[in-house]
Amino acid sequence: MIVRGAGRASQRRRAAAALLTLTALLTLAALAGAPAAGAAGRCGSHPWCETSLPPSQRAALLLGALTLKERVGLLAGDEPSGIGGAAGTHTGTSDGVPRVDLPTFFQTDGPIGVRSGKATALPASIGLAATFDRRLAGRAGALVGNEARLKGNDLAYAPTVNILRTPLWGRAFESLGEDPYLTSRMAVSYIRSLQRQGVIADVKHFAANNQEGRRVGGETVGSRFTVNAEVDERTLREIYLPAFEAAVKDADVGSVMCSYNRLNGPHACASRPLLHDVLRRDWGFRGLVLADYGASKTVAAGLAAGLDYEPWPFLDSDGGENYTPESVEAALDRGDVDRRDVDRAVRHTLRTLFASGFFDRRAYDPDEAAIDRVAHRRSSQRIAERAAVLLRNRDGALPLDDPKLDSLAVIGADADRYVNGGGSSNIDPYTFTSVRDGIATRAGDAGIDVSYDAGDDPAQAAAVAAAADVAVVVVADAASEGVDKPCLGLDCGAEPIGGVEVDRDALIAAVAAANPRTIVVLETAGPVLTPWRNDVNAILETWYPGMAAGPAVASVLFGDADPSGRLPATFPRREADLPTSGRPERYPGVAGDVDYSEGVLVGYRWFDRRNIEPAYPFGFGLSYTRFGLGGLQVRPTGSGRAAARVSVRVRNRGDRSGRAVPQIYVHLPGAPGRVQPPRQLKAFASVGLRPGATKRVSFHLDRRDFSYWDSTRDRWRVAPGCYRIELGTSSRDIVARRSIALGGGSCRRR
Ligand code: GLC
Repeated sequence: MIVRGAGRASQRRRAAAALLTLTALLTLAALAGAPAAGAAGRCGSHPWCETSLPPSQRAALLLGALTLKERVGLLAGDEPSGIGGAAGTHTGTSDGVPRVDLPTFFQTDGPIGVRSGKATALPASIGLAATFDRRLAGRAGALVGNEARLKGNDLAYAPTVNILRTPLWGRAFESLGEDPYLTSRMAVSYIRSLQRQGVIADVKHFAANNQEGRRVGGETVGSRFTVNAEVDERTLREIYLPAFEAAVKDADVGSVMCSYNRLNGPHACASRPLLHDVLRRDWGFRGLVLADYGASKTVAAGLAAGLDYEPWPFLDSDGGENYTPESVEAALDRGDVDRRDVDRAVRHTLRTLFASGFFDRRAYDPDEAAIDRVAHRRSSQRIAERAAVLLRNRDGALPLDDPKLDSLAVIGADADRYVNGGGSSNIDPYTFTSVRDGIATRAGDAGIDVSYDAGDDPAQAAAVAAAADVAVVVVADAASEGVDKPCLGLDCGAEPIGGVEVDRDALIAAVAAANPRTIVVLETAGPVLTPWRNDVNAILETWYPGMAAGPAVASVLFGDADPSGRLPATFPRREADLPTSGRPERYPGVAGDVDYSEGVLVGYRWFDRRNIEPAYPFGFGLSYTRFGLGGLQVRPTGSGRAAARVSVRVRNRGDRSGRAVPQIYVHLPGAPGRVQPPRQLKAFASVGLRPGATKRVSFHLDRRDFSYWDSTRDRWRVAPGCYRIELGTSSRDIVARRSIALGGGSCRRR
């Protein structure tokens, strides 16, 4: 990341600040005494309450009315007790300044629900990504925004958009998968909908926060708190930054949470190249940068780089300092901090609050009764149904709609419990229905007898399975913020269930040996190893399905809903096939440095470039019906401009309704020193079709879709060459392709 000469930048900064202050003073003079004509809400009758003024001007006016002590007090949160998510609390609180009617400002976690007492628990974010459906991402964002507001919050720390660089990541379940384009589009829909609820979204964790750290003995190697991610500029811009860029440019996200880790040296929350050059200068971000809890390491570096607010008012674990008033005042006294940096930080916060309407509305007084729990549970179930990915379905094992089916065995204690990832995104659901209960209810409706065995004794479980027509084995992995999984197998890092160690792979093998009609339901944080995949009839990946796990999984198993999910991350055959495996410098890092030397070859980009066969590829998923995809048309648009209109025809050839997910991949031409993956996802759609129906679906590819980041010129560039546009049902199943020449290049074979 290039750091330009600080001279010009700081001159510009000072000039801008001076201009803003001057404007504010002139406006103040003009408005002095006159009641703010457009005053509304709880702002009062101050000059900054004039709603016809732009947010930046209102912020400057209010800033001008604050003493230095009051400004310093706004740099850090004031109430940390809400971090545990107890009822009636907030993850973060900033007390405001009553003297000038600046109200208290409340923040809350998290991506799959509001962490404050009981709430709606959505499926894990990786399941939302598996729907490949922007509308469902919007539905999730609206739900989180609505409950955040009705629980009294002004800002929600969501969504998490970090790329799944290794499926061992403890927070894989919180990610939107391994692809920057899918992550970006889902995040944009989520943020827009959340903010339409009048709550500020907070896209996190900026940036390259892709691991928690690996437990080795008593140590955590490559801890997120200390690790330094070494990422070249092109890889950053093409893989790890796009979702943040889309959040800023396409969703106008109100805030960004900078991450714990260091990035190319500086801490992310003290990195001027990241927080100023990329975020403000290149992307035009005007909102608020807040720190992950305890991620502000040094006051001077943070303020100079552009960290505006630290919600966690404590000194951090390794004895650094952070934005508490004591630390800031000491730093000011020492001359380490320029007061203008304090002003700029507070102005960013105030501007974000003005822009969100915070001053011009009533406070969001908690109103739990106003939360439509039934509708929200229905949304959670709908997303969980659509997230389910059918990985295998031999002999039409699914759906379970065979009229001759009389008995069914549900095997595995994981079927009987709420499965979700640990840490700050974990939600205590208003209600929960287990997969076991969901199947029992649905099977009961069909007059099917259901037996159950917890599976802690595989021999006994096998006997129960053998006595039924069909056996459904339900297994979950274990994942949590704070620690990565030690390996990719189902039981890696798993806690004993009810005090009993369970070997889930052995349980599946035992049941499959006892009953040839065995179905495996996976409830996992992300990709896992599936050594038994050829020994079972069907595999349904349901991720962490949320509060309505039971009815959602049952409706897909029995065919009430079509499995329309597609993999947002590659399932490898072997852990050794991962780009980060066997390379400690890549993961978990050596001497604190993590080398992203795989570059842009993340996920399917790696498997495709290295021609490694995955167990199940990115974008893969079966349906209960059959689709015909074809009619690929590519029409360059905008003479000479790199852009194209792409359309495809989708037909439902089966006798059941279902959803197809056509995917458009682009192959960009490489060059010496510029590795290109065989293909990159650049468009997708989830298309519902009745039996026999046909639909033509169109996509628009713009200049950016054909560009790579040119690190020598520090900008996006369309290289001259021949570009291949592919229609696929996964990254490995390409059904049609066309080529177009761009950038003055040619497609004629040499
Ligand atoms: C945690 C997480 C972050 C969360 C915050 C508050 O450390 O990294 O995602 O929003 O603290 O709980």
